[in-house]
Amino acid sequence: MRLTLPTTGTPQAWSDPASYWPALSAAVADRPGPLVTLDAAALEHNAGDLLRRAGGLPVRVATKSVRSRPVLQAVLGLPGYAGVLAYTLPEALWAAGWCDDVVLGYPTADRVAVARLLGDERACRRVTLMVDSAEHLDLVDSVAGAGARPEVRVALDLDLSYEPPRAGRLTGRVGVYRSPVATAAQARELARQVLARPGFRLVGVMGYEAQLAGVGDALAGTGGPLARARSAAADARTLLVRRLQAASWQDVLERRAVMVAAVREVVESAGGTLEFVNGGGTGSLHLTRQDPSVTEVAAGSGLFGPTLFDRYRAFSPAPATAFALPVVRRPGAGVATVLGGGWVASGPPGHDRLPTPVWPPDVSLVTHEGAGEVQTPLRGPGARDLRVGDLTWWRHAKAGELCEHTDELVVVRPRTAAGATTAAEVEDVVPTYRGEGKAFL
Ligand SMILES: Cc1ncc(COP(=O)(O)O)c(C=O)c1O
Repeated sequence: MRLTLPTTGTPQAWSDPASYWPALSAAVADRPGPLVTLDAAALEHNAGDLLRRAGGLPVRVATKSVRSRPVLQAVLGLPGYAGVLAYTLPEALWAAGWCDDVVLGYPTADRVAVARLLGDERACRRVTLMVDSAEHLDLVDSVAGAGARPEVRVALDLDLSYEPPRAGRLTGRVGVYRSPVATAAQARELARQVLARPGFRLVGVMGYEAQLAGVGDALAGTGGPLARARSAAADARTLLVRRLQAASWQDVLERRAVMVAAVREVVESAGGTLEFVNGGGTGSLHLTRQDPSVTEVAAGSGLFGPTLFDRYRAFSPAPATAFALPVVRRPGAGVATVLGGGWVASGPPGHDRLPTPVWPPDVSLVTHEGAGEVQTPLRGPGARDLRVGDLTWWRHAKAGELCEHTDELVVVRPRTAAGATTAAEVEDVVPTYRGEGKAFL
């Protein structure tokens, strides 16, 4: 699979659903569904848009949000992308076979994988472990002590969650529960601990502002599929989110700067170099790039453009991945039932985690069945004319999780004329991680 960055004025086939989805149906007509498509042109559009929002900072690809090696390799082939942010150590070790810059974005407690890392000099040069406490260093040493193994590269994970003043019971912490390192003093202390331990090299810092990168700020109705879900309660919540995000961004800027400075000072005074300071995610690139303490950003979801990323004011990714479910029965005049459908996303349970039917228009899930394990009924005006064998098109709420449901991605490329999609061709079929026998999480 090969990608090129689009030039301005490249047609956006997905913006005319009435010609786009039928063209995709025709392109995959001879393949049994359920199947997952990846629109190469939409992916290129998204890849270019992430670079634009990153404003010149290199983009490290968050692999959990892609989970297909050929796709990751194709994106890494684009200028502006450098290295991956992996999600488990077994995955990072496998990725080190095809990528020379692998930062494991989360700590590991997997002693078997640590033993594999320590037994592989090349992997030790290519993989950076994430730590947020001395316990993570102890775990490595418990597998093999400093003299008996290669040097291990580590990065410090900084907490950038936000606790608003007088938050009361309603808000509490804004952001995620990850690292306990939240102040410059704590960052300095942990950096000193790493430097005092033989066999470790402190090479990087990561500070992920989840409350900005992963929480949408668009009002209902301004983000495509959300239009149908417009509600005053949701809008009131979004307005509160915007206020908290604005306050949190100031806090992120101030705290990341002092924490990074503290770590840098410890590393440099010992004659070392801080190679990278990673920040951000798809939803925050346009902000993160303004932080002078950051040297690179991480992003993944914005490549595939799942529905949770329809809810941001600063950008609108193209729906590069979609899945096709065939109609298998007609229980009644206004209902069509499709095969599968229960591809529900992780996170706080709610409607926004459900898959969204996008074609035909005017169909919806049945409340008491939802997205079913084997079958999913659809009802609404758009369901009336569906016949057994017809394809319906869906979008997942999240990016990489979609790849856990399929062995392969059918790479399609639409052709357009006068703003409409005239056809789509299958350009390639590439394996997902799962298709290569790799189920990491
Ligand atoms: C550490 C870290 N960085 C960046 C990201 C951003 O990933 P994405 O762009 O897929 O939202 C995540 C996602 O959870 C993350 O955990």
